[in-house]
Amino acid sequence: MFRRSYSTVTSSAQVLSTFKNPELLKTKAFINGSWVSSTSGEKFDVNNPALPLSEGKIATVESMSDSDYNQAIDQARISFDKFKKTSGRSRAELLEELYNLMMKNQEDLAKLVVLENGKPYADALGEVKYAASFFKWFSEEAPRIYGDIIPSSNSKNRILAMKQPIGVCGILTPWNFPLAMITRKLGAAIATGCTSIIKPASETPLSALALGYLCEQANIPAGVVNILPSSDAAGVGKLITTHPGINKVSFTGSTAVGKILMKQAAGTLKKLSFELGGNAPFIVFEDANIDDAVVGAITSKFRSSGQTCVCANRIFVHEDVYEEFSTKLVAKLNETVELGNGLVDGVTHGPLIHDKSMKKVREHIEDATLKGANILFGGSKRPELGQHFHDLTVLGNVSTDMLITQEETFGPVAPLIKFSSEEEVIQLANHTNVGLAGYFFSNDIRRVFRVAEALNVGMIGANTGGISEAALPFGGVAESGFGREGSKYGLDDYLVTKSVVIGDV
Ligand code: SIN
Repeated sequence: MFRRSYSTVTSSAQVLSTFKNPELLKTKAFINGSWVSSTSGEKFDVNNPALPLSEGKIATVESMSDSDYNQAIDQARISFDKFKKTSGRSRAELLEELYNLMMKNQEDLAKLVVLENGKPYADALGEVKYAASFFKWFSEEAPRIYGDIIPSSNSKNRILAMKQPIGVCGILTPWNFPLAMITRKLGAAIATGCTSIIKPASETPLSALALGYLCEQANIPAGVVNILPSSDAAGVGKLITTHPGINKVSFTGSTAVGKILMKQAAGTLKKLSFELGGNAPFIVFEDANIDDAVVGAITSKFRSSGQTCVCANRIFVHEDVYEEFSTKLVAKLNETVELGNGLVDGVTHGPLIHDKSMKKVREHIEDATLKGANILFGGSKRPELGQHFHDLTVLGNVSTDMLITQEETFGPVAPLIKFSSEEEVIQLANHTNVGLAGYFFSNDIRRVFRVAEALNVGMIGANTGGISEAALPFGGVAESGFGREGSKYGLDDYLVTKSVVIGDV
């Protein structure tokens, strides 16, 4: 369907005209079951990162004001009083319907993700399915939110531990997974009987608003899901974290912003779950299957062009297999990589999201090469494709004094660092204040346990570069945040435990 030359698929209007369901394109906010404009009259443009700014506008979206947010929070509180009383089974049915609707509209949703995020169509389709799987998962969890009956130390008393929904949730999401980062939070919120105020990233509000449309189609009660785009991330972050009507905030984004939000939330002591930055180590031991490690490294490092929190950021390779691994990695990239507009057939990797990302990638490459790293693959900007395109890049001879090993690149650069012993590499891998994901390849089962236990991260991929799915408890340690999303643990952050003592039994 998309087998056309690069230049003929560049118009957003053209792509939007191919939608089976044009209703999915919304530009107003979804509040209390209605589509509303901003009371301030402010709007902002959403641009396609694969195109120059002058040609890239996809749509103009309402930028909701503080007063719109306050009103939505009031509505969400009113809706919570009703929604919290619904049964888990009825909420499961709503979630099941949302899952079905996402799957039914998967192609249009994927096109929308490509337009505003830039990732290739196949990846975007993968994201739609990944996002929908959280609704499916939480539809299965919703009827199984159990409490406990606890024997009291007083023989006349019984203690009940009840699980109750926490209330109105503020959901702040990033641009790298415009659908999945919402559904992973919203699925748990709906399953538990909470209501939500969602602020999608200003780069990618259209996918979020399309979800609002599907909530409407699924007959989610008014006020349970509210989606308010805004160009003022800092202002909305402050409003959400300080508003007494918000009981919990779930945020996916950078560690720096997480720290600001946490300080702001202290005034009202909100429950928080934060999924923040990473600096994932990826270790290739001398006993690894090198072909598998190469595939794992490409999967982990270059997914979404390096723009995920769980992407490998530092690739440690044992000195005995360094030559073999680096040669095979470069050969595989040469064979498989096709950079370009995500709507063109065969494209495997798209643009970076914006100028800031390009700048960081350039800074990391330039700092590393100045300090002695050599470019084994790629290494350049690709202006002939567009201002946000950068080669997938492999750097050899990288050392730990280089910026790229100290900061999350959030871009398509794989730095290879030699090591000589397990003890040394564990120390190097743990030398960071963040700990989201970590990966390693080894065929020694004893080492698999040792290293999995020793790495200071929240999630491990042992002999795999792909870990994400709805069943995985997703989250980090240290300055990568706290709380777990997805999985059976994902409900906990949206629940409170109420203890009831029944006396004189
Ligand atoms: C993220 O980058 O924050 C999420 C990645 C994932 O869910 O796999």
